[in-house]
Amino acid sequence: MCAEMSKAVKKYFAPGRVNLIGEHIDYNGGLVLPAALNIGISATYIPQSDNKIVLRSATHSLVKEINLSDTFSFNPQNDWTNYPIGIIEHLKRENHYIPSCEVIFESNLPEGSGLSSSAAIEVLTAFMLLSQTESNINRTWLAEFCQQVENEFIDVKCGIMDQYAVANGKKDNALLLDCAYLKHDFVPIELGDCRLLLMNTNKPRSLIRSRYNERKAECEEALRIIRNVKPQLKNLCEAEMHWIETITDEVIRKRARHVISENIRVKESVKVLRHNDLHTFGRLLNASHQSLKEDYEVSGTELDILVETAQEIKGCLGARMTGAGFGGCAIALVHHSVIEKLKNNVSETYFNSTGITCSFHTVEIGDGVRLLSE
Ligand code: GLA
Repeated sequence: MCAEMSKAVKKYFAPGRVNLIGEHIDYNGGLVLPAALNIGISATYIPQSDNKIVLRSATHSLVKEINLSDTFSFNPQNDWTNYPIGIIEHLKRENHYIPSCEVIFESNLPEGSGLSSSAAIEVLTAFMLLSQTESNINRTWLAEFCQQVENEFIDVKCGIMDQYAVANGKKDNALLLDCAYLKHDFVPIELGDCRLLLMNTNKPRSLIRSRYNERKAECEEALRIIRNVKPQLKNLCEAEMHWIETITDEVIRKRARHVISENIRVKESVKVLRHNDLHTFGRLLNASHQSLKEDYEVSGTELDILVETAQEIKGCLGARMTGAGFGGCAIALVHHSVIEKLKNNVSETYFNSTGITCSFHTVEIGDGVRLLSE
């Protein structure tokens, strides 16, 4: 199988992702609307023949050499290399052939900002290593495989959205992903005179793992309670809103209300986006943020300041936090003529209240993981 492997140096790329709407929905079996970005992580692949892999990064000083005969587990000292090592370990467990190589990663994705740098490096590593011997990698399998590595090796119990978007993204399109059936449709994103602006809190995200897992457990509890009266219910996103009246705990009821209403907002967003009704889409973004702030409680002072300051500006059609929350990024849908004004107002208000400088980036939607050049 590996006898014919090319000895050429190759370059691969995996994008980050932004979620347009459908937050904290993937692990509840509903619909999400992410898009792959045109920024991400690249990897230069240099073939070797010594049963080793050397992992280097242009952005981090840690270099790691691993022997392919060894067995690996998560080690905090391995820092960023835990992601590629996790992929290698799990590929080995599934008896995939792993070629000896040296890899140099380079990223232009702000880390820890909720743009899925971890999903990008996972999908990139798996795609690159498998591409040496396989020509038709199934991208749904690839996403599920990488999610499993994140859940088991890294021990973050994330849903499928990030890995799926990184693996399957398409230029100028969002992915309407049905997380219960792992099927997607592309939704063309035509913004006309508007732009999608990423607003980065530049606030290191803290306690994200435990609070993410806590929300997941709360949703499981909501599902368990509703199933007492609706035993056939497969997942929370299928529930009707009035069923949450059976939940007596107010916190659990609020979590369920977010999930059910957000799933409906995704359906409405797709409908209005297909008719180029950006004003209604903007209002759905605002409603999503409100629900994430009040009912799901995953926003926070920094994200709220960015979002609410942006929302006040005439010409901003809508804004909301994106990704897991607790820091990270927000998005705003803005008419191009007010972008500079929005940036000035938002950064000034944000700095005055937090002492932190936020940053901005215009979203451009790119393709999923791919070979760049040979
Ligand atoms: C993180 C997770 C995703 C998803 C989002 C919230 O990005 O990795 O699976 O749950 O949070 O929508």
